[in-house]
Amino acid sequence: MADYTAIFYISGGGFGQLVAAGTAWGKAGNNRMYFICCGRIGKSIGMAYINWSPELSMGMKDIDEQHKNFVGLINKAYEANKAGAPRGAQKEVIAGLIEYGRYHFDTEEKYFEKFSYPHTDEHKAEHAKLLAKVLVFSDKFEKGDDVAPELLAFLKDWLADHLMKHDKKYSKYFKSKGYI
Ligand SMILES: [Fe+2]
Ligand SMILES: [Fe+2]
Repeated sequence: MADYTAIFYISGGGFGQLVAAGTAWGKAGNNRMYFICCGRIGKSIGMAYINWSPELSMGMKDIDEQHKNFVGLINKAYEANKAGAPRGAQKEVIAGLIEYGRYHFDTEEKYFEKFSYPHTDEHKAEHAKLLAKVLVFSDKFEKGDDVAPELLAFLKDWLADHLMKHDKKYSKYFKSKGYI
């Protein structure tokens, strides 16, 4: 927990410097901006590498839980790298990401089969591409490269893109068919 958390509201601009100072910010409505600052970096709101937000929800309990766990694993990888964890610990985190990725993709692909999802092939190809890419990072890590910064940036972008474009597509389809 942070020692303190403060939320400030600002009308109009002028928040750039504050954001640059490492605070979390967002739109509060009516064109007001807000930022949150915390007394200590930790498990406080807005300080994780990736924050879960309601728009990432698919409206499917098991899938949402898995996505949250995946976000948690990426945050764990970020923390391990930031703390300069030993390579053994970093290796475990990378292996965990690959294992959890396979488990999660398998869960989604079972839904595709169950509901005869028409975009199954393209979605499965996206999953395969991600796993192949992370395995390349893993190989580079095994050879002694410092892959963490690039891997983390890749996973952060991939996750947002995949959830919003591809996973949302199947959840909308399942809902339109009354499956969920
Ligand atoms: Fe997913
Ligand atoms: Fe997916």
